[in-house]
Amino acid sequence: MEYMNYIGGRWVGSVTGRTFESKDPANGEVVGVVPLSSAADVEMAVEAAAEAFRSWRLTTAPRRGEILFKVGQLLQERKERLAELVTREMGKVIAEGRGDVQEAIDMTFYMAGEGRRLMGHTVPSELPSKFGTSMRDPVGVVAAITPWNFPIAIPTWKLSAALICGNTVVLKPASDTPVLAAELVKLYEEAGLPPGVLNLVIGSGDEVGDPLVNHPKVDVISFTGSTDTGRSVLTQTASRMKRVSLEMGGKNAIVVMEDADLDLAVEGIIWSAFGTTGQRCTAASRVIVDRAVEEALTDRLVERAARLRLGHGLDPATEMGPVINDRQMDKIHQYTLIGVREGAKLLTGGEVARDGDLARGTFYRPTIFSGVQPGMRIAQEEIFGPVLAIIAVDGLEEAIRVNNDTRYGLSTSIYTRDVNRAFTAMRDITTGVVYVNAGTIGAEVQLPFGGTRETGNGHREAAWASLDIFTEWKTVYVDYSGKLQRAQIDLVEGMG
Ligand code: UN1
Repeated sequence: MEYMNYIGGRWVGSVTGRTFESKDPANGEVVGVVPLSSAADVEMAVEAAAEAFRSWRLTTAPRRGEILFKVGQLLQERKERLAELVTREMGKVIAEGRGDVQEAIDMTFYMAGEGRRLMGHTVPSELPSKFGTSMRDPVGVVAAITPWNFPIAIPTWKLSAALICGNTVVLKPASDTPVLAAELVKLYEEAGLPPGVLNLVIGSGDEVGDPLVNHPKVDVISFTGSTDTGRSVLTQTASRMKRVSLEMGGKNAIVVMEDADLDLAVEGIIWSAFGTTGQRCTAASRVIVDRAVEEALTDRLVERAARLRLGHGLDPATEMGPVINDRQMDKIHQYTLIGVREGAKLLTGGEVARDGDLARGTFYRPTIFSGVQPGMRIAQEEIFGPVLAIIAVDGLEEAIRVNNDTRYGLSTSIYTRDVNRAFTAMRDITTGVVYVNAGTIGAEVQLPFGGTRETGNGHREAAWASLDIFTEWKTVYVDYSGKLQRAQIDLVEGMG
C-alpha cells in the first residue's frame, strides 16, 4: 500500500517524487511504500501549520478537546487493526502492540480532558482593586520528531498535548515506522481536525528533520530519540533560542536487595530487559544485585532468558520479537563483543538467531552478562537491545551509587521488602522515574515522564507537566482602582 505526506489537509506525494519501502523486521515483507521527502515538503508543511495556527489558537480549548475525544474513540475502535500493524511494522509482540495503542488512547483522553482545565493561577494582588491572574498561551508551530519503538503512543503524547494547548504541528516520524504515523494522522483527519493543524512529512533526519528543526517558523521542538540526535537538535537550534524538549537515552537498572522477593524480581527483570526486545528507553539493561543473592538470581534469570521464544509478534506463542533493523542488530552484537573483551562473562545469548524462519528477520538472542564492573562500556552505554549486565554490590548504599553513576537518568527499580530501604532509595535515586517492587517499564500517562542528566533537558512529557512544553505562561494584571497604584512602593510606604 502506498502512503503520502499530509500537508494543509491534503494527502500529497513528496515534491521529489522519491519513495522508500517500510518493511516488517520479522520477515522483510513490505508493509508500505512512503515518500522520501525533502526540505521543499517541510517548507510547505510548516507554512500550512503557521497559517492554521491563526485560527486554531482561537478555537476554544473545550472544542479542541472534543476533536481529541473523537480521536480517542477512533483509536479504541481501530485498536486491534492498529495493534497488528504495530507488530508488523515495528516488530513488538501483539500484546505489546495493543499496549502501544492503549497508551495512545489513554493519553488522548487525558489531554482531551485538559481542554476543560488548562488551569492557570489567580492570586491576590498586593494592591486594592487590582486583579492578577496567569494563563497558558499556545506557542505556535510544533515540530514533533518521534521514534520507532512506540510508533503510536509517543506521537500521540506529543500531538495530543500540543494540539489541546492550541498549537499546530508538523510530525516527522522515524523512518522505520512511517506507515503507522500515516495511519495515526488519518484518525485525526477523520475526527475533524481542520486542515493544516496537523501535518505529516515522512523522510530522513538529514532531509526532513534538519530543515524542520531549523525552520524559522517552527517555535517548539519535541523530540524523542537518541542522545546524539537530541544533542544535535539542541545545538543546531540554540542560536535561534527555540524551545526544545528532549527525551533520550537510558541505562536503567533494577536493584535487587537480599531481602527481595526473588520470584517477583525475576519476573520484573525479564519483562523489563527483554520486553519490546529491550528497545524501550525505559528498558532495564543493568541488574544491580546484592552479592548475597547474586548467584540465586543470576541462575534464574539465565534459565528464563534462554527459554524465551523468539518469532513473529503476531504468533501468540512468541515472547520476544525482532530488533528493528540490521543496523541496530549490528550495534547490539558489537556490544556483545565489547562486553567479552572487557572481561564480563557471557552467560547466555550473545548471537544473532538464525534458525528456521528467524533467518528472514533481524532476531538477536536474549543476552546476559555477569561479572560486570560498573565502569564497563556495557554498564554505561545505551545498547537498545536485549542485553542485560549483572553487577554485584554490597548493600544499598553501593547499589544506589552505582545506579546513579551513569550519564543517563531515566528509570530505576528496586526490589526490597524493607520499607526503610524502599524510602531511602526513593530519596537517593536520581533518575526521573523510580519504581518499588516493579520493573523499570510501564509508566502511566497521568504522571510526568522523563529523565535527568543526559536523558533529557529538564522537561517532562505526559500528564500536566507536558503542558509546560507547549504553552507560554501569560500573566495578566487588571487595575480597576481608577488611579495610579505603584506596586512595591505605595502600600509599603504607607505602612512605614
Ligand atoms: C520509550 O521507550 O521511549 O514506561 C517510552 C514505558 C512506556 C513508555 C516508554 N510507557 O515503558
